[in-house]
Amino acid sequence: MEVLIVGSGGREHALALSLSESDSVNHVHSCPGNAGTAVSGTNHNVDSMDIQGIINLAKRLDIDLVVVGPEAPLVAGLSDRLLEEEIPCFGPNSIGAKLEGSKLYAKKIMQSAKVPTAGLILIENIDRINESLDNYSPPWVVKRDVLAGGKGVVVTSDRSEAFNALCNGIELDGKVLLEEFLFGEEASVLVVMDESGYVCLPASQDHKRLLDGDNGPNTGGMGAYAPAPIYTPAVEQRTISEIIEPMHHFLRNQDVPYRGCLYVGLMIDENGAPFVVEFNVRFGDPETQVTLPLISSDLGELLMSCAIGKISECDYSISSYSSATIVLTSEGYPSNSISGRVINGTEIRIEEGEISAFVHYAGTVISDDGTLVSNGGRVLAATGIAPNLGTAVEAAYEVIENIELEGSYFRKDIAHKGL
Ligand code: AMP
Ligand code: GLY
Repeated sequence: MEVLIVGSGGREHALALSLSESDSVNHVHSCPGNAGTAVSGTNHNVDSMDIQGIINLAKRLDIDLVVVGPEAPLVAGLSDRLLEEEIPCFGPNSIGAKLEGSKLYAKKIMQSAKVPTAGLILIENIDRINESLDNYSPPWVVKRDVLAGGKGVVVTSDRSEAFNALCNGIELDGKVLLEEFLFGEEASVLVVMDESGYVCLPASQDHKRLLDGDNGPNTGGMGAYAPAPIYTPAVEQRTISEIIEPMHHFLRNQDVPYRGCLYVGLMIDENGAPFVVEFNVRFGDPETQVTLPLISSDLGELLMSCAIGKISECDYSISSYSSATIVLTSEGYPSNSISGRVINGTEIRIEEGEISAFVHYAGTVISDDGTLVSNGGRVLAATGIAPNLGTAVEAAYEVIENIELEGSYFRKDIAHKGL
């Protein structure tokens, strides 16, 4: 197959690496891609939101499968257009993508499918804020009902901060969501799903807060590891029966069935009960960087089977290894990232028996003179893979400590809960 990956983050580099190692794949193209996807295949200078440009590119390259990384093109209808052109696409149509595009819509679907999730109040008028805050005890969870790259959520025990976040949401969007706070530990389950069935990949744990100890503002994700021990066989069984089965039932019966990854963001309480914090309609970033290396079968076959609605016929296997990834961010991330600085030390790679570690590129470009330059908030990640989690984490840190980028930052406690 000729495969086209849409996007330019660490997730897309992880997809490009695994797809380029798949026997079923001849060549991996990316648009627009990054410094890593340029090495695993060929980059094309088409923006991930340029739907007509992507269709034209796919036709010109005679692409057999388009794999869409980020949510925004899916919400904007890229998959719908590819379907019209009869080009197989991994990623749902715009109606399926509403599960991520609108938290209010996702909540309504969960309520009608009786999927466990936090309670929610929709607020459209500033006069209603105080009585709404009285409905829940702190901490309060304030969410904008728009795509915000993981940064549209404020969790706070400070009533005036919650009040201000709610006002801000109403001023920006005309509405805002106040959600019940869920206690517990988070895990992400990536489910590759079509109308014929689904495959649950090993659960991972992301680190959404900027600072060590899970402090500071929410980010797109500062690191991850897999498999996550919090997701025990008992939790898995409940997640499948209470969340994944009802969602699959709903999504397979849509006019256009869901074909892609359903990212289930879970909160697992102290009794092992799973609740949905959010759905995403794509692979997670950085969860993908730790999940794909644990798939020991052909990724191209898995994604293509899903894109044509035949996942139930696809054989796949998962390795017993563990993996960890540590994200390196630019100075100023997540509010005001500084780009355009030279990066050194990324050539480091560990290959020692069963242990490997290497760089997943994200916000990076190769400048005209051939130097590697930062180009975004999350610049790259170091990923380690080993027979046990401790060794995978150590290998990933060995790689990240070698990277030189002025003002950069990474968390020092990735996988602490798993360890
Ligand atoms: P979301 O974009 O909805 O995934 O929210 C981002 C992050 O905010 C989540 O990963 C959680 O860490 C936190 N969060 C969101 N909703 C809740 C909730 N209802 N209870 C506790 N934490 C939450
Ligand atoms: N790492 C969180 C996300 O991909 O949404």
